[in-house]
Amino acid sequence: MSTELSRVVVAGLGYVGLPLAVRAAEVGHRVIGYDTDADRVKALDAGESYIEDVPSSRLAAVVDSGAFRPSAVTRACAGFDVAVITVPTPLREGLPDLSYVEAAARMLARFLRPGATVIVESTSYPGTTTEQVLPWLEDGSGLIGGTDFHLGYSPERIDPGNSTWTLVSTPKIVSGIDAGSVAAIGDFYAGIVETTVPVSAPSVAELAKIIENTFRHVNIALINEFAVFAHGLKIDIWEAIDAASTKPFGFMPFTPGPGVGGHCLPVDPCYLSWRVERALGQSFRFVELANDINNHMPDYVVRRLMLALNKRGRPVSGSRVLLLGLAYKKNTGDARESPAVRIAQLLTGMGADVRGADPHVAEFGLRDTVVPRVEPTSAEISRADAVILVTDHDAFDTDEIAQHASYVLDCRRVMSGDNVESL
Ligand SMILES: NC(=O)c1ccc[n+]([C@@H]2O[C@H](COP(=O)([O-])OP(=O)(O)OC[C@H]3O[C@@H](n4cnc5c(N)ncnc54)[C@H](O)[C@@H]3O)[C@@H](O)[C@H]2O)c1
Repeated sequence: MSTELSRVVVAGLGYVGLPLAVRAAEVGHRVIGYDTDADRVKALDAGESYIEDVPSSRLAAVVDSGAFRPSAVTRACAGFDVAVITVPTPLREGLPDLSYVEAAARMLARFLRPGATVIVESTSYPGTTTEQVLPWLEDGSGLIGGTDFHLGYSPERIDPGNSTWTLVSTPKIVSGIDAGSVAAIGDFYAGIVETTVPVSAPSVAELAKIIENTFRHVNIALINEFAVFAHGLKIDIWEAIDAASTKPFGFMPFTPGPGVGGHCLPVDPCYLSWRVERALGQSFRFVELANDINNHMPDYVVRRLMLALNKRGRPVSGSRVLLLGLAYKKNTGDARESPAVRIAQLLTGMGADVRGADPHVAEFGLRDTVVPRVEPTSAEISRADAVILVTDHDAFDTDEIAQHASYVLDCRRVMSGDNVESL
């Protein structure tokens, strides 16, 4: 473990940046957390965390000790030894949008000093670190990467809500534009995480991250397609997956769901397919197919609900539908790209009276305009013509739901009963 402690800047205090900044402060670095969102900075400075994996008590401890200082002021970044870029890399009209990474890199370039290190953690296509970030840093600083400063890429593997594989226990891939950069970046993370995995080039680390996400994306799409066909064939897909999972080698179970969400799966594979298309003139067919299947799962959920209501002699129009779980992932409050948004929009468009409940999600859709929010009380459940369990948060009492609901479409197979159907 490295013992050298530094002045660290973490640019972007989101799901990736905040846990890293707090951990870096806990191991003894002096950390500036720079974020352009002044409201977020204010809340963090008051010790209020909005991320489940960083309890407010942990945040408050490093803020109070002065080890971690959130700031929305760029000059707070001056004098850094190590800066980590953890800003968003979304899609804009289906194309990679590196504008946040560029803004962060150009800002850091102004404060870059000889001997300092810049690390990119934001997910992007292979080539981003050397072809984009390096020139942004060199242009803005007048320094030469590899000679005057270190630069590399280290993908984040954070899995919100996973208490077994945390930032600390999950091995971290590290890379650099030259040997000195790999060594500097490896040293920094050796003090933060238990295991570092050096690779030969930033493009290898960038590709590794996208392989991991594309692997999940494609396998989820595959099992989703199985689920649709298995239902048509009147075979229990869940029992079949359990049976297949008894094979001790060569199989890894994935489960069907209402679609994919969050910042990673709907977005990252598209960065690679864009790159492949641009650089090689070829389409990445697996990614396109997986996108197509996963993006249509909300339509399938709605079709299943229509059939179920139809059996009960009810049209969707005028039916009261309660969505349980608006986050894309169990026990988290992250509703970005959540399939629940699309399900709500489709049902509302068909004239259903849709309500949503989620104890974790603070803000849903376009600032809560997508569906009215309710508490999942037994009265609310029994008043609904149908309940869709979109996300199986532990906070939901499935016995109570089964007891009071007239019909449940369970997208996660956590319930059973005569009034319950699984996806
Ligand atoms: N969320 C995950 O589970 C996860 C996992 C692995 C990798 N990633 C990748 O990590 C990156 C960050 O994702 P996230 O989920 O933490 O995003 P996020 O939206 O939660 O947080 C990003 C933060 O960056 C801030 N920001 C935007 N522009 C900025 C700028 N120019 N300077 C400083 N701050 C700025 C935003 O205000 C926000 O607080 C993305 O590339 C994502 O693909 C995310």
